[in-house]
Amino acid sequence: MAQSGISSSIPEVIQKFLVKDKVVVVTGGARGLGFSFALGLAQAGANIAAIDLDVAPGPHFERLSQCGGKHRYYRADVTNYEVLKATIDSIARDFGSIDGCIPAAGIIRDRPFLQHTPEDLIDTMNVNVIGVFLTVQLCAAKMSAQGTGGSVVCISSTAGHRSLFPQTISAYTASKYAVRGLVKQIASELAQHKIRVNSISPGVIKTDMLESVMQANPTRRKLFESSNAMQRLGNSEELVGMVLCLMSDASTFTTGQDFLVDGGQI
Ligand SMILES: NC(=O)c1ccc[n+]([C@@H]2O[C@H](COP(=O)([O-])OP(=O)(O)OC[C@H]3O[C@@H](n4cnc5c(N)ncnc54)[C@H](O)[C@@H]3O)[C@@H](O)[C@H]2O)c1
Repeated sequence: MAQSGISSSIPEVIQKFLVKDKVVVVTGGARGLGFSFALGLAQAGANIAAIDLDVAPGPHFERLSQCGGKHRYYRADVTNYEVLKATIDSIARDFGSIDGCIPAAGIIRDRPFLQHTPEDLIDTMNVNVIGVFLTVQLCAAKMSAQGTGGSVVCISSTAGHRSLFPQTISAYTASKYAVRGLVKQIASELAQHKIRVNSISPGVIKTDMLESVMQANPTRRKLFESSNAMQRLGNSEELVGMVLCLMSDASTFTTGQDFLVDGGQI
C-alpha cells in the first residue's frame, strides 16, 4: 500500500529509495565519484551541499539545478578543521538540517613503498583518513543535535581489502583500510543517535584520479581492465544505486558494513 503524502503511483518499495528533502553533504563533490553521488541523490530528491577544494566546480555542476531540489557549492579543504567546521556550520544554517554525509574527497600516490616520501604519507592520511574522520564527526554532531538521525556513506576501496600489487599505493591502501576500521567503530557509537554508518569499496572506476594513475604509468590501464570478472573499468554512475540504497530508508537495518562494487574482483 502506498503511503499518504507521496505519489500513490510510486510503489511502496520504490518510495523507500527516495531521499526527498534530505540534506546530504558530499565532499569531493566538484567532480568524479563525489559529483556522481551528488547528482544521483539529487535525482532521487535530495538537497546537496557539495564541498571541494576547487575555486568553483565545472559547468557540469549545473546539472544539479535540473533535479528540482536545492544545491550549493562550498569551497573548503577537508584537512583544515577550522575551515571545515565553519563550512558545516554554514551548511546547517543554509539548509536547516544535515541528514546525510558522503566524505568522498580523496587522493592517491602511486610510488613504490621505498620511495614514498613523508609528504606522500602525510598528505594521503590527511585527506583520506583525517578529512573523512572530521567530516563525519562534524556532520554527525549536527544529526545528533537535530535528533532525527541520518546516514553516512564512506568511500573505501578494493585497496581497503587486499594488496593491489603491482600497483604501488602503500599509503593509499593503509588509508582505505583505516576508513573501514573507522566505519566499524563509529557505527557502534552512533547507533544510539539513529545514525547509520557504512562504506562502499569501489573497484577501478573511470575518474580523473584513475586517469592520472594510468597517465603516469600506461601499463596500469591493461592491469585495471583485466582486474575484474567483467574485464572493464566501471563508470561512476554504476556506484550510485548502492549509495542511494545506503543513504535511504531502503537500508534502515544496515550499519557498520562495507559493500564492494568492483565488477567482480573474485
Ligand atoms: N576512481 C576509482 O577508481 C576509485 C576507486 C576506489 C575508491 N575511490 C575513492 O573515491 C573517492 C573519490 O575519488 P575520485 O576517483 O572521484 O577522485 P577525483 O580525483 O576524480 O575526485 C576527488 C575530489 O576530491 C577533491 N579533494 C581532494 N583533496 C581534497 C581536500 N583536501 N579537500 C576537499 N576536497 C578535496 C578533489 O578536488 C576532487 O574533486 C576517493 O576517496 C577515492 O579514493 C576511487
